[in-house]
Amino acid sequence: MCGIVGFTGRQSAAPVLLEGLKKLEYRGYDSAGIAVMDGKSITVNKVRGRIANLCEKTKDGAKVPGTTGIGHTRWATHGAPTEENAHPHLSNDGRFAIVHNGIIENYLSLREELTQDGYHFLSETDTEVIVHLLEMYYRGNVRDALIKTANRLRGSYALGVICSEEPGKIYAVREASPLILGVGIDENFFASDVTALVNHTRNVIYLEDGEFAELSDTSIRIFDCSGQEIHKKATRVLWDVQAAEKGGYEHFMLKEIMEQPGAVKATLAPRMKEHGVEFEELTGLLPKLPSIRKILITACGSAYYAGCAGKYALEHLARIPVEVELASELRYSDPLIDESTLLIVISQSGETADTIAAMKECKARGAKTLAIVNVVGSSVATLADFAVYTWAGPEIAVATTKGYTTQVTVLYMLALYFADHLNRIGEEKARLQEALQAMPRRIQESIDMNANIPALARKYHKAKALFFIGRNTDYAVALEGALKMKEISYLHAEAYAAGELKHGTIALIEEHQPVIALCANPSIMEKTLSNMVEVKSRGAEVLALTFRNNQKILSVADDLLFMPEVDPLFSAVMEIVPLQLLAYYVARENGCDIDKPKNLAKSVTVE
Ligand code: F6R
Repeated sequence: MCGIVGFTGRQSAAPVLLEGLKKLEYRGYDSAGIAVMDGKSITVNKVRGRIANLCEKTKDGAKVPGTTGIGHTRWATHGAPTEENAHPHLSNDGRFAIVHNGIIENYLSLREELTQDGYHFLSETDTEVIVHLLEMYYRGNVRDALIKTANRLRGSYALGVICSEEPGKIYAVREASPLILGVGIDENFFASDVTALVNHTRNVIYLEDGEFAELSDTSIRIFDCSGQEIHKKATRVLWDVQAAEKGGYEHFMLKEIMEQPGAVKATLAPRMKEHGVEFEELTGLLPKLPSIRKILITACGSAYYAGCAGKYALEHLARIPVEVELASELRYSDPLIDESTLLIVISQSGETADTIAAMKECKARGAKTLAIVNVVGSSVATLADFAVYTWAGPEIAVATTKGYTTQVTVLYMLALYFADHLNRIGEEKARLQEALQAMPRRIQESIDMNANIPALARKYHKAKALFFIGRNTDYAVALEGALKMKEISYLHAEAYAAGELKHGTIALIEEHQPVIALCANPSIMEKTLSNMVEVKSRGAEVLALTFRNNQKILSVADDLLFMPEVDPLFSAVMEIVPLQLLAYYVARENGCDIDKPKNLAKSVTVE
């Protein structure tokens, strides 16, 4: 995710900014830049790629004089990872330089308006509208210009701003994206992440939404969105740098599990409109939609399981047949594909070799391709006819969590979007739209309801094997739950369609064998209940995942994981969360290297 730093003081700003940016490297980024003010002139240096390149370009900052500046690491969202799109961005008159984290949802209309007013855009970013708005509203008072600009923006933003008319001052603005002020002696700072501050100061002030701050070397003033000054106390940060990188969590995986409500919200927000789901990026696909006879989903690993989970909503709502195929199989399968096939490719990294190969194979046979992908400008995104981004931000733990849930979220939205544009949905629409909107809240409930998971992990972590069973949508989630368990805890874990037990697997059930039974789909729950009884009568210990008030399941299970009661069409996103947590705590009990499991890589770029 993007990172921001700002500094004003008496020493040279560029080395401080570069050092701060290095502390933010762990978050992932694809370009970086700094803007430094020396007297009344602003110098901008930007590079594609690593901060090392920026250090080389600026001779570790020595080539950039000035004691005030802002810096940024960019994780591409709007526009490819190029030098032009890297931050800081300058206003046309050169007065303002800004850095931005977040997404400006109404940037297209603002860009149109500003272009008509004669402003020139040098990048494809949503950010650039902000700097031109500042120039437009500036009448000799930066604070006024900031307030007027903020009033025009919809979306999320943490902003760092410098203005050549106010040497020695840096401005920080926050709306739904973190920004922290660092209180020093004869120097002050801001950063999007406390890791960039702790080497300089442990006294920090957390900005809240709608607040902005004006910092000089000796003062910090904070204002609300109307310009009214407010007074906030500094707090002391006790984390060390390593703990700070992980937001205070022991592992990135746990941090990323906890980030899921926000990641799903960021993925939903730009597409959920009052009248329904809209994908601006898919308007070119709409005319072709009626001629689509088959949807083929392809991916690897968890992304494949996301496809398995999304299939049900797509078929039920859009009434288009959906097949889900592993990319490593599809690429060699001589697939039956033509122009009436829509290939949906799912990939967090956008660089998975098998996924890319399968995609090329299907493209060559005439399929239209839609990519659900997390990395802007990645190979999968570039190859696809249409790219729909998940806004999960960078995932650092090797085992995917927020990558998976945001992929499933996009599939749910696509199901509703296709159904709507094919006129295949009626009264259900409003209810399902509400269910989608509620998902971030529901995921949080899934996290909050399961405080007993560490205790369950202590009970089950020595098991020789864990079986996950479920039917229909529950089975799709069981597949991902079992994969999470095996890859990070190294326990043998297998998912079975519960109805298949009698066809072989039940032979493995013996005294004390743990069976995790997924029961979130009421239409098929009685059947899973019978399977639970069957395995219990053979000595299994059943850990059921279901709703709090589901008495029938509660009375049969030995132990319980909980999730909120949600529409089964959209349940996978909430249902996987307790299983991610269970895998995490079992792995922790077993002393595993959770963020970097053995033999695994984050991005599998070879076959
Ligand atoms: C499992 C996991 C992998 C990936 C798979 C595909 O936790 O992360 O199974 O899902 O390697 O990777 P992407 O989505 O980058 O194509």
